[in-house]
Amino acid sequence: MLDDLESILFSREQIADRVQEVGRTISRDYASTQPLVIGVLKGAFVFLADLVRRIDIPVEIDFMAISSYGASTKSSGVVKIIKDLDVPVEGRHVLVVEDIVDTGMTLSYLRDVLLRRGAASVKIVTAFDKPARRVVAIAPDYCCFEVPNAFLVGYGLDYSERYRHLPCVGVLRPDIYSGE
Ligand code: IMP
Repeated sequence: MLDDLESILFSREQIADRVQEVGRTISRDYASTQPLVIGVLKGAFVFLADLVRRIDIPVEIDFMAISSYGASTKSSGVVKIIKDLDVPVEGRHVLVVEDIVDTGMTLSYLRDVLLRRGAASVKIVTAFDKPARRVVAIAPDYCCFEVPNAFLVGYGLDYSERYRHLPCVGVLRPDIYSGE
């Protein structure tokens, strides 16, 4: 599977070190609260699992799944919730966990929904940030790595549901997805 990568951007070890640092910062920043950690399915499941085990304050964990209405409408920012939370967010300090922030549309939508539902605060932590692709002005509050404008796979990121389980993250070889 690693043969399908053009290059490896971050190794398993580099990711682990950085996730530990970010977990420490979050533990400090949220020391007096019990945040509700919300993972955005599917891509965030790997990062969330690693991150929460580096957070040493009490947290609650829930998941949401969001879908865009296909590639053409994604640029219009039309997204919908396909799996909602099991717990109310009213009055809660919410930490949204994302795999990667790209155009920013998913997170901008999600943040608005959570604030409208009465969350006391909404912050974003992402494993990867691709600022060159941003369409909506949104910046993650915590980010492990800034990445270049390339299609990445691994560490939760997929191409057609493949590669999510790779422990490293890398650039997918263009010949794998060209012709589609
Ligand atoms: P946004 O709404 O454009 O920020 O979309 C973010 C979502 O697009 C992420 O949660 C990923 O599911 C997907 N995505 C963006 N860039 C990549 C990439 O390089 N590889 C795999 N998925 C990506």
